[in-house]
Amino acid sequence: MQTETLKVDQLSESQAAVELERLAAQIAHHDRQYHGNDAPEISDADYDALRRRNSEIEAKFPHLVRPDSPAKSVGFTVSAKFEKIAHKVPMLSLDNAFNDQDAQDFVDRVRRFLKLDPMHPFWLTAEPKIDGLSLSLRYEKGQLISAATRGDGAVGENVTVNAKTIQDIPWTLGARTAAALQTLSGRVPDVLEVRGEVYMTHADFVSLNERHRREGKPEIANPRNGAAGSLRQLDSAVTASRPLRFFAYAWGEVSEMPAATQLGMVQALESYGFKTNPLMRRCANADELLNVYRAIEAQRASLGYDIDGVVYKVDDLTLQQRLGFVSRSPRWAIAHKFPAEKATTELLAIDIQVGRTGAHTPVARLKPVTVGGVVVTNATLHNEDEIKRLGVMVGDTVTVQRAGDVIPQVLDFIPEKRPLGAIEYVFPKQCMCELKTALIREEIASGVDGVVRRCTGEFACPHQKIEHLKHFVSRRGFDIEGLGDKQIEFFFNDPDLPVNSPVDIFTLAKRDAGNLKKLKDKEGFGETSTAKLFAAIDSKRAIGLDRVIYGLGIRHVGDSSSKTLARAYGSFAAFHDAALKIASGDTSATEEMDALEDIGPAVIESVGRYFAEEHNRLLLEALAEELTVADADKPVSGSPVAGKIVVFTGTLVRMTRDEAKAMAERLGAKVSGSVSKKTDLVVAGPGAGSKLTDAQKHGVEVIDEDAWFERVGA
Ligand code: IVH
Repeated sequence: MQTETLKVDQLSESQAAVELERLAAQIAHHDRQYHGNDAPEISDADYDALRRRNSEIEAKFPHLVRPDSPAKSVGFTVSAKFEKIAHKVPMLSLDNAFNDQDAQDFVDRVRRFLKLDPMHPFWLTAEPKIDGLSLSLRYEKGQLISAATRGDGAVGENVTVNAKTIQDIPWTLGARTAAALQTLSGRVPDVLEVRGEVYMTHADFVSLNERHRREGKPEIANPRNGAAGSLRQLDSAVTASRPLRFFAYAWGEVSEMPAATQLGMVQALESYGFKTNPLMRRCANADELLNVYRAIEAQRASLGYDIDGVVYKVDDLTLQQRLGFVSRSPRWAIAHKFPAEKATTELLAIDIQVGRTGAHTPVARLKPVTVGGVVVTNATLHNEDEIKRLGVMVGDTVTVQRAGDVIPQVLDFIPEKRPLGAIEYVFPKQCMCELKTALIREEIASGVDGVVRRCTGEFACPHQKIEHLKHFVSRRGFDIEGLGDKQIEFFFNDPDLPVNSPVDIFTLAKRDAGNLKKLKDKEGFGETSTAKLFAAIDSKRAIGLDRVIYGLGIRHVGDSSSKTLARAYGSFAAFHDAALKIASGDTSATEEMDALEDIGPAVIESVGRYFAEEHNRLLLEALAEELTVADADKPVSGSPVAGKIVVFTGTLVRMTRDEAKAMAERLGAKVSGSVSKKTDLVVAGPGAGSKLTDAQKHGVEVIDEDAWFERVGA
């Protein structure tokens, strides 16, 4: 992660604008990794730091707040695999507190906002923050109708079939206890949306991974990914085979509220048949909240499931309503996060891992140590400069941190414990492969010397070739069932059926047919699994353009850029043509790509470089022979807003800002962050401020959110 050097106070306006742009891109990327790919790259603490920095800069420079400001969105847009469900009441996120003072400030802020007299008591609640994924369950007349993930907060994924396989989720609601029958909560409201967290216990996680190891499937990094991956399975039989749990702690639409407090509501949910967290407590002030925090923290390791903090909420629902929301989170609640977990151990060795792009990443091999209940043997050292910065030597006693669910990090070493025989680590100057190609310091987008050492061998380098292949078959790429990292490694080294390039995957069956040593006779394969594999490969011959572009593994072209490129060029032929032109230095093709939203010089340069390589071009031609690439949905040209410049302002209820932007762009409009005389249309929700005045000044048409939906016919 980039270190922030300047204090917010020292930032010039242009520096602030540049940084806000970078933060928006970084946060969006990490949101995608976390929510979309279940593969976070940075710790929760680092992620929170990015968001905090963004808010600080926005507070100092409110006029620079971007239309795509991360402060206005939660999570990630839904995956295309599942049907979508629009949340009647948005599913929001929580603001974070990181220390006792933040918790105290939260209580003070609530008091100030409500203008409560210092002596006026008000109740709060404290409960564990479960580290899983949130789910909204809709019940009508006591029957489970649908289950949706949070998605981007406004629209989630319909995972009803999968949710129904979870034991803790009742299909029918009813009063379970005699006591409940005596109370109002004995009657279940006609419409009731119950929200809570799907999670996996440590014990279930361990046995799931044992099963995965036995079956040769990739191991799951942590229980949260286990829960997310299981719930978002397309095959509900797989979800059913994985033990998931559910705690109810909140609600969405409710036709008739059974209680007037947070605690009362949670008790009502329990009486309907839900599991609720037994550690929830009612507190009178910040001190009591902090006592509960410490009590829960002390039990953290023995709970049997992951929690990452304690959530404080205002108990009285009328007060909650008065407090309302600030962009993505309620004013009436806050998550007090636990600090990252640390431990010290011995650094046994430093190894190098070579990635798809030839990047050489140093990995610390550690004497096994338990950090927050998990045994850690490896930790990342990031890059050459990081080793120098830390001044760490092999043999040192180091501090490692495991934050959330990302790869543990080496934080520092203890000088007093340095042994006499400690060895300085010399970063290799040549690639780890047998070609021993020279390593160069990566150039970053701006042309400045970066910190990563990279092998220049590209496709000639076996390490990169194999990583490229793994990327090609990965989930966002061709996603070929039964062809994962392990199988790629197998085929890469196989003397009879080598797979050295993506094309080889599609010729496997043909080559196998003409082979004496058949795949079905090899270890790990059999008649059925071979047939299944070939069928899975065949099923991916017809494929979307975005997946093809992603699968090529062009540097800087990730999930979102490949989608943008696919949508913009529409067909494989058009993309191929443009890329070849860019490679040959055609300025108009370059400008055309540069005009695309979210595509910058780094992407264009890599596309050009990729297509300038003859063997990449040949690979692609050969690959195209094997595939039928489906055209992408092009922006609708005949839509009522095509070619128009649209500005969204104020609070949007039916969609998030990101969604609104995506929708408008899909319909061929250009979305702008500020109103000028060029603006064609302003869509204003409640609370629209200066942009509304600007619109009136320039005589720009202003409509509300409902009128927008009507106009675009959605
Ligand atoms: S209350 C309006 N309570 O944390 C916000 N959330 O960062 C309602 N979470 O999306 C959320 N445990 O997935 C609440 N006891 C708890 C929670 C909890 C975990 C998650 C939830 C939410 C996220 C917010």
